[in-house]
Formats: sequence, C-alpha cells, structure tokens
Amino acid sequence: MPVLCMLLSVVSVKVSFAQNGDNGKNRTESVQLIPIETAHSATVFEVGKDNRLHMVYLGSKLPENKEYNQIIGQYRQGTDYSEVSDVVYPASGSQNLFEPAISVRHADGNQSLDLKFVSVQTKQMDKDIKLTEIILKDEVYPFEVHLFYKTYFATDVVETWADIMHEEKGSVRMDKFASAGLYLRGSKFWLTHYHGDWAKEMRPEQTLITHGIKTLDSKLGSRADLFQPPVFMIALGQKAREDAGKVIYGSLEWSGNFRVDLELDNLNNLRVIPGINNYASSFDLPKDSLFTTAKFLYTFSDRGQGQASRQLQRWARDNKILDGNGQRLTLLNNWESTYFDFNEDKLRSLLKDTKSLGVDLFLLDDGWFGNSYPRNNDHAGLGDWQANRKKLPNGIASLVKEATNMGVKFGIWLEPEMVNPKSDLYHQHPDWVLKQAKRPEYYFRNQLVLDLTNPAVQDFIFRIVDTLFTQNPGLAYIKWDCNAVIYNAYSLHESQQGRLYIDYVQGLYNVLKRIRAKYPKIPMMLCSGGGGRVDYGALQYFTEFWPSDNTDPLERIYMQWEYSYFYPAIATANHVTNWGKQPLKYRVDVAMMGKLGFDIPVHDLSAPDLNFCQASVVNYNKIKDIIWHGDQYRLQSPWTNDVASLMYVDRDKMHGVIFNYLVNARYGSGSHTPIKWKGLDPNRKYRIREINLYPGTTSTIKGDDVLSGDFLMTIGYNPKVDASRSSVILVADAVQS
Ligand code: GLA
Repeated sequence: MPVLCMLLSVVSVKVSFAQNGDNGKNRTESVQLIPIETAHSATVFEVGKDNRLHMVYLGSKLPENKEYNQIIGQYRQGTDYSEVSDVVYPASGSQNLFEPAISVRHADGNQSLDLKFVSVQTKQMDKDIKLTEIILKDEVYPFEVHLFYKTYFATDVVETWADIMHEEKGSVRMDKFASAGLYLRGSKFWLTHYHGDWAKEMRPEQTLITHGIKTLDSKLGSRADLFQPPVFMIALGQKAREDAGKVIYGSLEWSGNFRVDLELDNLNNLRVIPGINNYASSFDLPKDSLFTTAKFLYTFSDRGQGQASRQLQRWARDNKILDGNGQRLTLLNNWESTYFDFNEDKLRSLLKDTKSLGVDLFLLDDGWFGNSYPRNNDHAGLGDWQANRKKLPNGIASLVKEATNMGVKFGIWLEPEMVNPKSDLYHQHPDWVLKQAKRPEYYFRNQLVLDLTNPAVQDFIFRIVDTLFTQNPGLAYIKWDCNAVIYNAYSLHESQQGRLYIDYVQGLYNVLKRIRAKYPKIPMMLCSGGGGRVDYGALQYFTEFWPSDNTDPLERIYMQWEYSYFYPAIATANHVTNWGKQPLKYRVDVAMMGKLGFDIPVHDLSAPDLNFCQASVVNYNKIKDIIWHGDQYRLQSPWTNDVASLMYVDRDKMHGVIFNYLVNARYGSGSHTPIKWKGLDPNRKYRIREINLYPGTTSTIKGDDVLSGDFLMTIGYNPKVDASRSSVILVADAVQS
C-alpha cells in the first residue's frame, strides 16, 4: 500500500463497553474508542468486537472523555438487523442495508466489501490542527480505505476525506466513492438546504427529514451550483435557531458534481453520505493507484446557527480562503454601464471615474478580446484572448499603464474554461471541446466547455493568465467567470469517460494551483454566471466570490443573509448597480455588508449622488476592517421582520457596525421595537452614531447616546427605520469610562 504520511502518536483509548441496548449484539464487550475532538465538539467512533468502525456520537464535547462509551447504552431504538447501520464508511455488498459510502466491483467481478478496522494514528500538525488517519481493510480482498479527519480545534471545524486503494490483480471498478459517512442518533432532524437559478441564488428551504432518502445533488459538470449549492445544515431535535440549539453545517469542498444522501433509517437515526456525485462516473481504479475523494467539511454548534456561522467564517478566513485575513480592493466594474459596447476612450473616462469615486481598482469586464470573431456580444470570441484591435488599438498594456499613472489599479475579466464555436480556438482545436461528436451541439449561453482533463488545455489556460501578467506586470486583479454547464459530456482525451466529471474539476484545480504557485497573492474573484461556483474547493484559490448577478439590494439582503451562514463577508463581493427600485443610499449600504464595489455609470450620477458615493467609499474604508475581519451577528431576519438587521464587531469588542434595512413596503412598517445587539462587551459603554447619511439629510439619532453593552444586548437599540429612513448604518464605539 502506498505510504501516505508519517503519523506520530496513537490516541485511541481502550475501554470496557457498556450495555448497548438493542442496537448491535456484537458490540457488547471490549471496544476501542476514538474521540475526534475540537474545542467544543466531539465526533466519536468505536471499534466494535466485530472489528468494524462504528459511529457513536457527534455533538457537544463531554468533559469526561471516558463517558463517551456510555452513550450508546442510553439508546433503545429497536433492532439493527444488519449490525452495521452505524458504521462510519458503509460499503455495499455485505451486511449493509442502507445507502453506502462506497460501492466497488473487484477485479474478479465480485461486488462485496466489508471494511474492518486496522489502526488509527494522529499527528498534531500545528497548535490548532490535528490529523487523524484511520485505516480500514477488507478481510477478503486486498482493498483499503484510509479515512482522514483534520480538526481545527479553535473553530470546531472538521474536514474529512478518504483515500481508496487496492492491490488486486486487475483494476477495481468504483461505482460510489463518498468522502465520509456520519451517523447521527436522535429523534428529529431538520434539514436546511438551498435551491435557486440564475439571479435567484441561495433560496432556503427547511424541512423535517422523513424516512427514506433525501438527496441534495448537482450534475452540471463545470460548477457545483445553478439549482442547488453544496451547503446545508441539520438542526438536531428542533428547527434551527439563531442563538440556541444544536446544529451541524456541512459542505463539499468540490467545484463540480456533488451528492449528499441523508437517509433516516428504521431506528430513526440519520445517515449522511456526502461526496463527489457518482452520477455517470463509474471508473476503474488500477492496481497500486490511489483515489482521494473530495473533502467534506462540517462544524457542530450547540449554541445555534449564529455560533456555527462565526466558527465557519473564522475557519474560512484562517485556513481556506486565499488571503482570508488580508485586505481587499474596492472597485469600479464596467459590465452594467457598458456591456460589450466600449472603446479606449470610454475606458479612459471610466478610469477617471474610478479615481474620482475613490475606489482602488478598475475592473474591465467581458468584451475586450477576439479579432477574427470580435466579442461584441455573447455569441462570439470566447477562447481568443487577444485584445480586440478595434476597441483597444493600444492593447491592455496601455490601459494598465494609464491606470497606474493615475494611481488606480487595473483588473480584467476572463472566462478561460469556455469557447464560443465562433472563435479561432474552436476551429484550431476542435478536439479540445467537450461534446458528443455524433450529436448536435447544445449550448449554454452560446458556448461550450473546454476539456480540462487534457493537460494541453490546462497549459493553454495557464498560459492565458501567465501571458496577461507577464505582458502587464501592473495587472492587479482577475474576475474568473464560468458561465456554461457541461452538456453532451464526452472527452476525446479520456480513456474512461466515467472519469470525465471528476478529472474536469481536478484539471481546473491543477491550473489554479499553477497560477497560485506563480502568483500567490493576486486577488481573484470567483464568478460563475452569478453564484454558480461558490464552494470551498475553489475558494482556496480565490480571494472573493460573486454571489449573484442579481444586485437588486432588496434581493441581496436575503441572499447575503443566506450566504452569511456559510461564508465570511470579506469574500462576498457586492456591487452597487442600477438594479432595484431602492434609493442609492439603500443600494450602497447593502453593498457595504461585504466587499464593496460599484458597477454604475458614474458620469451619469447627479452631483449629490456622486458626493454620496465618494463619501461612502471614505466611510467604508473606516469600517471595512470590522466587516472583513470581525465577527458577524445576524440580529433580525428579513424573512420574519419589517426590518432586517445584521452587525459586525471587531475582535476586541471595541467597535461595532450595525446595518438596518426596511424590507417591507407596507404602510406603517418600520423598527417599532428595539433590536437587541450581540457580541459586545456587557461591561463597556458604547457611543452610538449614524454614518453614511445622504447629503442634505440629518439623522434622528443625534450621536450622544452612550449605552452599556449590557443594555444594548438586553434591551437593544432602535435604529428608527421607517419609509423615510429605509436604510440606517450605525456605529458603536467603546468609550473610556
Ligand atoms: C457573467 C457574470 C457577469 C458578467 C458577465 C459577462 O454573467 O456573472 O458579472 O461578468 O458574465 O459576460
């Protein structure tokens, strides 16, 4: 077997196992307990007398470590006929009667697998991170699965995945290859999952999980989401609540087809099997090779959704998102003010607008490339990444230079995985395109997807980015788009078509790894026809993501609210546009709740509007550190209140920023009662003032309120939101007592 890593100490403890109800006859004696703990949570496995790895528990950490072995004895739920219902990584073809994590066909055609425990080892990677490796092996076939649990102690996050390998005489066919299995004991499980479409991302649904299987999945190939993102939460016992109750958040770290099966069994326990989708993806694993599944991440909180979000957001900033604790660039984008219709003069004037607005960067969007097939609409040019000579006779370089001279940074839009049939690329490399040669081509936004399983295509994409940076060392930002899904999935490069969906994503990651090796810090926005590719698999290479093309601020309040359960504000790119009917102040205030950008025709703004935008950038620069690096608290949901309210508090609890929006247009709607703030120091006093007022307006909040954190969190504070003050940003600064 390949040696994967040198692991140091063994942490499992041998204990005498207590009476175990009716759940498993073979596990009533000596067992080995394997607790995987973080600061507040524990995932506990046991090796039964049957030598299988069973899941005992996922929940709050117990102070008495050895009491974990008393847990199962407290459950008397009925008969587990198979005695393997709670095994951690259930396989098909042996005793298992429920959804498997793994299904294989051995080299001799046999389809049975029964994984037994071999060993466990842990390695302390640093102060916070520990890696546990559990080796499971079949007793009949030379087939092994190594389960990994990487724990992030302080933030209570666990990443888990599996390495699958064998030494059989021929290849083993892999029909299912999930990342992990969780088995949750309980009575009621409430699932929150999301659905959507273009411009309708992150619409939540909460449902009681009933018996049978609920599958969350996607089959789009090039991205995880259009209709369903890979994030979900399970509330244990009762519906999810913001500040109380037990909740598990989960997500696949994978930018393509995913599948999460949630199966409530005859004992009323919940089996969760997350992984890369095995849809159209059976493949042969050759002898002596290794298949590593996607990572699945989860976090448990017994203090409600708010706490779970703060754990995940901090984890993402500390460990996953590129430069998660760093700085970000505010920007002016030209997409909605010009679409494809621009030339050098227009862009020059937009550079001036960028400067006058006071933002850091100008982002040139789609439409700058293509000569044989100019990119003047979305029917042509994709794939031909040379500046259009008519629109930009002096190329990108002169614009970057001009921007630099003006003290403005320059960024550019790319969609390098895609091709329009009307392009030189398509004609020169027809074999680089994913399609069924004998079937008619079928397009998504008039384009096809390049075959990223092919290293030549990976090289091509890397070179596009590399050439841009080599020719324009001043280039400071990339918006990486991915609009099309994969139809007619077929690769001329793959010898096994069953690998296509998986190798596409791996091919993408290969390119991104190469880009990051050479350009480790360049900020890049992850975009996918709106929010189609917001996942932690991709976000390790990106500094931010584009949540949706829908920038109507009222819609965004709901959408950003939902994204905030799983992703930090520093990574959430929000642009002020002309979508929606709300006043400019409302639009700007909503965009400030993340990474601020503008995508409006600045030259069309009235003088007060321009003044307001300029002042907003100045105000944002004063509070952005709290929004990007502080803790976020959802105060009042837009789904159930007239006024939505959300706040950020810096780590020292010295400063807070509180965003409040009227989301109900009916007569008399407003903030009639105080809104309780969170996350402050109860013993400190805070001075409260309103910021970001529109020129010529005055606040009904005079700025002389000084109240204790205790008061603000127990009684609350009224932002005085109503139809005449539909958007209110408050700042709370600790004062010396
Ligand atoms: C996608 C993106 C938009 C814009 C267009 C350009 O739809 O989501 O922001 O960049 O592509 O074609």
